[in-house]
Amino acid sequence: MKNTAITFREAKAKGEKITMLTAYDYSMAKIIDNSGINGILVGDSVGMVCLGYEDTISVTMEDMIHHTRAVARGTENALVVADMPFMSYQTSVYDAVFNAGRLMKEGRAQCVKLEGGVDMCDRIEAITKASIPVMAHIGLTPQSVNSLGGFKVQGKSEEAAKELIEAAKAVEKAGAFSVVLECVPAKLSEIISKEISIPTIGIGAGASCDGQILVYQDMLGMFNDFTPKFVKKYADLGATMTEAFKAYIEDVSKGIFPALEHGFKISEEVISKLY
Ligand code: KIV
Repeated sequence: MKNTAITFREAKAKGEKITMLTAYDYSMAKIIDNSGINGILVGDSVGMVCLGYEDTISVTMEDMIHHTRAVARGTENALVVADMPFMSYQTSVYDAVFNAGRLMKEGRAQCVKLEGGVDMCDRIEAITKASIPVMAHIGLTPQSVNSLGGFKVQGKSEEAAKELIEAAKAVEKAGAFSVVLECVPAKLSEIISKEISIPTIGIGAGASCDGQILVYQDMLGMFNDFTPKFVKKYADLGATMTEAFKAYIEDVSKGIFPALEHGFKISEEVISKLY
């Protein structure tokens, strides 16, 4: 079944959990889509896990369009969400609508995600009015790493917790169809999830969220620069891949690969005419 912004909202109403993973290219999107996931986020985390940046600040619109197109080509049923990169929407409402439109037209995303609460509501409203569904993102918003002073859990004090509840209500009112809660204490996410009617998608935000999202390299053990506390490793593919690469190197070094079955034949008659 094709997932849409509408089916996400219906899932919450029915009490069904929503599952999401990130993807950044065609072949991985296909594998994830075939697993029956509800949504694929082409996250600006691409900057860290694929491009090797230390944060998401340097990711460009061109990067996001390039990766979103690849993911969209590999996805049949999951909802494809494209992240709006740093400074593609903060600068003005006009830029926000214009760049969200590019992610839809050129990237073939089905909706966009942007970071921020009350301050970004005018952008959310304008993009939604342009018929582009918006997933909001509050709590730890990695594009604000420099003003937050690092990648830290958010909403721990009474004031900060109240602000997050207000932010969740505000993005819902502005028209967002769902909201990511990143690095938010589990009990606070539970309150937020009850207070709003749009689904909350948690990452480091506890089990009471209406859905969950993880970066696929983290959950498959393919990105070991650092592993956030909230990650569960479902496989250690990094180690499996290293073993496979070592086996390949050994086979090539010993002349075991390629074997006869990996090659192509030519008739002896043709060969005899070559000498
Ligand atoms: O860019 C990303 O991967 C994200 C998720 C962590 C929610 O925003």
